[in-house]
Amino acid sequence: MDTIETHNFDVLIIGAGGAGLRAAVEAHALGAKTAIVCKSLLGKAHTVMAEGGVAAALGNVWPEDNWKVHFRDTMRGGKMLNNWRMAQLHAQEAPDRVMELEDWGALFDRTPDGRILQRDFGGHRYARLAHVGDRTGLELLRTLQHRSVDQNVEVFMECKIFRLLQDENGNVNGALGLWRENGKFVAFGAKSVVICSGGVGKIWKITSNSWESTADGQALALWAGADLIDMEFVQFHPTGMVWPPSARGLLVTEGVRGDGGVLKNKEGERFMFNYIPPFYAKETADTTEEGDQWYENKKDFRRPPELLPRDEVARAINSEIKAGRGSPHGGVYLDICSRRSPEDIKRRLPSMYHQFKELADVDITKEPMEIGPTCHYIMGGIKVDADTAATSVPGLFAAGEAAGGMHGSNRLGGNSLSDLLVFGKRAGEYAARYAMEQAKEPQINMSLVSDHTKKALSTFERENGITPYQLHHELQDTMQPLVGIIRTESELLEAKEKLAVLKEKLQQVAVEGNRQFNPGWHMALDLESMFDVAMCTTASAVERKESRGGHTRNDYPQSDPEYFGKINMVTSRGDDGNINLRQEPLPEMPGELKVLFEEGK
Ligand code: FUM
Repeated sequence: MDTIETHNFDVLIIGAGGAGLRAAVEAHALGAKTAIVCKSLLGKAHTVMAEGGVAAALGNVWPEDNWKVHFRDTMRGGKMLNNWRMAQLHAQEAPDRVMELEDWGALFDRTPDGRILQRDFGGHRYARLAHVGDRTGLELLRTLQHRSVDQNVEVFMECKIFRLLQDENGNVNGALGLWRENGKFVAFGAKSVVICSGGVGKIWKITSNSWESTADGQALALWAGADLIDMEFVQFHPTGMVWPPSARGLLVTEGVRGDGGVLKNKEGERFMFNYIPPFYAKETADTTEEGDQWYENKKDFRRPPELLPRDEVARAINSEIKAGRGSPHGGVYLDICSRRSPEDIKRRLPSMYHQFKELADVDITKEPMEIGPTCHYIMGGIKVDADTAATSVPGLFAAGEAAGGMHGSNRLGGNSLSDLLVFGKRAGEYAARYAMEQAKEPQINMSLVSDHTKKALSTFERENGITPYQLHHELQDTMQPLVGIIRTESELLEAKEKLAVLKEKLQQVAVEGNRQFNPGWHMALDLESMFDVAMCTTASAVERKESRGGHTRNDYPQSDPEYFGKINMVTSRGDDGNINLRQEPLPEMPGELKVLFEEGK
């Protein structure tokens, strides 16, 4: 075995999106020797794709807003399957996390009297999203990045972690990675590890996610013995670009609808009025009146139907397209130009204006956009303790999209940025505290390292195998049609069988060339994660025999409040390497929170 580069830290954070950076700032502030390792370049995380804002009950636009309303909206949006304690902490702490960002230099848009401006988003009763035009995620990353680099948190970029390291008792004590540039291995010893590696979107064909979102963190945790919960809940954001093909899936921020954009089919009908669920009927009305200052002066809390939660809007768009009322490239129309002035659109939605102009030659100040659903986010994830972000594996913590529970079966837009701030901070804090309690320095188990590195290199030894890209396409071609936005038993079972066959093909993947910057090799390693996580999603989707949030079953079109509404699906890996599934009851919500759901509250 080559000599392997090693490093030792108290806290090692995998992923440099918002959750990872916020965790690093916190762990470092508590005195832990902290490092971040990320697969891409610093500043390039998927956090930038939360464009429209960060949800926090600051009450700047609507003084009536407070954490209890935010908590209730979040639970209702998640169809009551959320971990109530996470949703409570999130709603209570989000305002402080946003104000702290401002102290650290984030430049939010302003109300006329100089406070942080908040915009409307789906499922939020009040305009609640603090934002920076349509580049909020970018500003959040920029601010946290400066803060962590300023504090001398060490950052290892372009390094893919492909295994966690554990001691003889199963405690996580480090991670094993490879430098993407030269293909050499690197081992990190760490007293605690925090997984903040984001999502899984590249399992699907049409996605807003970039190349990094290959389920790495979920799989690392699964292989180390942690549980994943509710992996069937995948969010298809209603508005992704559909044309040109090279831009298919790219996000069109919900901020367009938040600022008054409306959805129309090819007949020009505002079809969302036909899809208002009784549950949201009282609070839905056309309030998208003309006038550029509409969002700043609004005094009607009711929302237009385009601002129903994302699961409802995505399903409605899907139905219109299926009924033959779609646009020429297989989407529907999103129209902001007939609602707002060109100046206002360019000021409020500058990235959308440029994105459509550059990529599709569409001027959104003059023409409607063509959009359709795109895989954006996974609500399920690594099972964590609500307060501490600890997994069931000692030494292992998780936060952000990689962790599950907070959003239940459907996430409200804007709640991802606040989630990663609130739980990134908590994960950093508790990982640092755990590390401080460990008397011994972590010992890297070199024989384990040797086994893992040999296995990682085995794809170079095969001849005439299949390429990792071919297998990735086969995975996506299975998941997109069979485990997509609308599901049914027979298709899910077909997917399960296909995945088992395709996973066998992993043993035939062959990689050409050498170890220096070899994306084919990196993809071969990513596939191991994507297959196991796709299997967790499919197994959970088969078992959840109801429709709820981001899981719609044609064969079980109703929600089942009596049985499935009270359980989480939990997947884990057995000793034989197979995915096991069990059902667990939801934690009971205390009485003082239950009353918030009574009529009239
Ligand atoms: O539509 C958006 O701007 C995305 C926001 C989010 O996913 O939270």
